[in-house]
Amino acid sequence: MSKLVAPSVLAADFANIQRDVEMINSSDADWFHIDIMDGVFVPNISFGMPVMQAIKKHATKPLDVHLMIVNPDQYIKTFKEIGADILTVHYEACTHLHRTIQSIKAEGMQAGVALNPHTPISVLEDIIQDLDLVCIMSVNPGFGGQSFIENTYTKVQQLKNLITFKGCDTKIEIDGGVTSKNANNLIEVGADVLVAGSFVFGAEDPIQTVKELKELIN
Ligand code: DX5
Ligand code: ZN
Repeated sequence: MSKLVAPSVLAADFANIQRDVEMINSSDADWFHIDIMDGVFVPNISFGMPVMQAIKKHATKPLDVHLMIVNPDQYIKTFKEIGADILTVHYEACTHLHRTIQSIKAEGMQAGVALNPHTPISVLEDIIQDLDLVCIMSVNPGFGGQSFIENTYTKVQQLKNLITFKGCDTKIEIDGGVTSKNANNLIEVGADVLVAGSFVFGAEDPIQTVKELKELIN
């Protein structure tokens, strides 16, 4: 299966959101990564439903929605209604993770779980078979443009081993500080999807940057 690139819209120009969404449409990117932050689970507020609706209106690729919010269960239906294809909740924000995952699937979305940098892979042992995606945070969630945490490689390896051991086909996504410098190493240890915010939108030529990143990892 080919390895995927998901530009994070958090790094886009919100005054020109249609232009930036169309730019990603016309690139080799696979998904739009949408970061929803509530100012409670993480120390930052990004944007909410109206902005996501505006993105959806122009996007021609799947929306990979990363919820950095407390009480995600409350909003599962709404995110389905406004066009999420993949809905990822944080392990640290869910008391009844199994129930939350089932609710996401019942709405017809793919279900993902994100792990903060300090959360070990072992917490997923009894839920991995139910997950379409695991998002390993390679920075502390809340902000774009942070530097990559090196311990991520070990975690990706451990997760890959767990997925192989259980015989499931869960995708491994890496989120935070991804660049062309670490992309290949991440794929080598087992990553399937690379999220890239500032590396793509901060580039002089984002379309070319996505193209090169895709070529590098495939
Ligand atoms: C961080 C977000 C990331 C972020 C990635 O909390 O979940 O998706 O936008 O941005 P970069 O690629 O700039 O680290
Ligand atoms: Zn994210």
